[in-house]
Amino acid sequence: MDLFDKCGTESGYFGIFRAQDDYFFTRPILDPIPGTTTIFNGKKCIQWSINNYLGLAENQKIKALSEETIKKFPLSSPMGSRMMTGNTQHHKELEKQLADYLEKESSILFNYGYLGVLGTIASLVDRNDTIVIDKLSHASMLDATFLAPGKFRAFRHNDMDSLESHLKRINRDRKGGVLIVTEGVFGMRGDLADLPNICKLKEKYDARLFIDDAHGFGVMNETGQGTASYFGLQDQVDIYFGTFAKAFAGIGGVSAADKKVVDWIRYNARTQVFAKSLPMVYVEVLKKTLEMVKNGASRRKKMFENAEKLKTGLSNLGYNIGKGRSPITAVYVPAGDLKMGMQIISKLRELGIFITGVMYPVVPKGIILFRMIPTASHTQEQIDETIKAFAFVRDRLNLDLNSVKHAAL
Ligand SMILES: Cc1ncc(COP(=O)(O)O)c(C=O)c1O
Repeated sequence: MDLFDKCGTESGYFGIFRAQDDYFFTRPILDPIPGTTTIFNGKKCIQWSINNYLGLAENQKIKALSEETIKKFPLSSPMGSRMMTGNTQHHKELEKQLADYLEKESSILFNYGYLGVLGTIASLVDRNDTIVIDKLSHASMLDATFLAPGKFRAFRHNDMDSLESHLKRINRDRKGGVLIVTEGVFGMRGDLADLPNICKLKEKYDARLFIDDAHGFGVMNETGQGTASYFGLQDQVDIYFGTFAKAFAGIGGVSAADKKVVDWIRYNARTQVFAKSLPMVYVEVLKKTLEMVKNGASRRKKMFENAEKLKTGLSNLGYNIGKGRSPITAVYVPAGDLKMGMQIISKLRELGIFITGVMYPVVPKGIILFRMIPTASHTQEQIDETIKAFAFVRDRLNLDLNSVKHAAL
């Protein structure tokens, strides 16, 4: 048996697509300039698959600032990790601005959201500690539980009885700390963590709470401060995490918490201590982006109005879009039927509607969904055209939209 034997088979993630050297359902080649349209296979399509919530990816002021910044600070700058030679006053300023915005004492930057989640959780959880994680949490959080030396338990998605029973069991012979880990807005389904009850349980069982709010940061609440702030619970979140790859249309991530906790992470998060610091071009541009996000109430209003129009239109056609309160619009493929999902994607793309399918390992086995992201920049015409195309596809493919497995939602 050779290590590489599996590489020629259909096993592994998305194996059937890899075996076909697919560039349609996986790895589609797209126009690199983000916006509400894209070019796919030579055809202009309405883009529904990028996390450009506030429409900042195509913002001309940010583009101009990026060009100016790159003249002052080449891509190389700064060189080295923050710990050694890569720290600058600019990084410190951005961290201070982010901490203030997130109403925490301090914050730390990471080069990617994924690395931020990994580094933050793994640096804090020791051998005697336990992570209790929502089963549907993003891969970065699940991977962090594997990396951290502590134990972990997974509770059923947003199920407070399940969370409480784990916390009870842990407290019976507890030796260390407990960290509850969840997303704020669940990125694939668009539903919100039940933070009011999670916070109550956290108090009752003397645990700490980490929220990865990748999809709520800049998006939720009028202020954009995120999902905890939307519930009025920001002060109860021990570590708030956001990425810049979504509403901020950049790269990087941030953990915000009490100063002593952030200082600990700063010195112990291996994904940051042993990595080059965030490039200057991002640091400088993110300061401006943060200002636009802070003052982005009208963009958020437009985004939510667009989301409402899209959700209502699809739901009126009979599509099952779940119950998310965030802009994310998850369209479930009846009975998780992969073949049907592929047919719908193909037909929609023929009609100039670009959507992508989401399947295992991104969501549990048996579920296939299209994750659509209405943004502040989508127009009424684009929404109307999209709903019309979904109606056409429903009729052309004779879809039985009532056969969705409700238990899987
Ligand atoms: C919930 C969540 N956490 C973390 C990440 C990783 O963020 P980044 O793309 O900045 O590495 C993502 C991105 O898909 C995400 O959805």
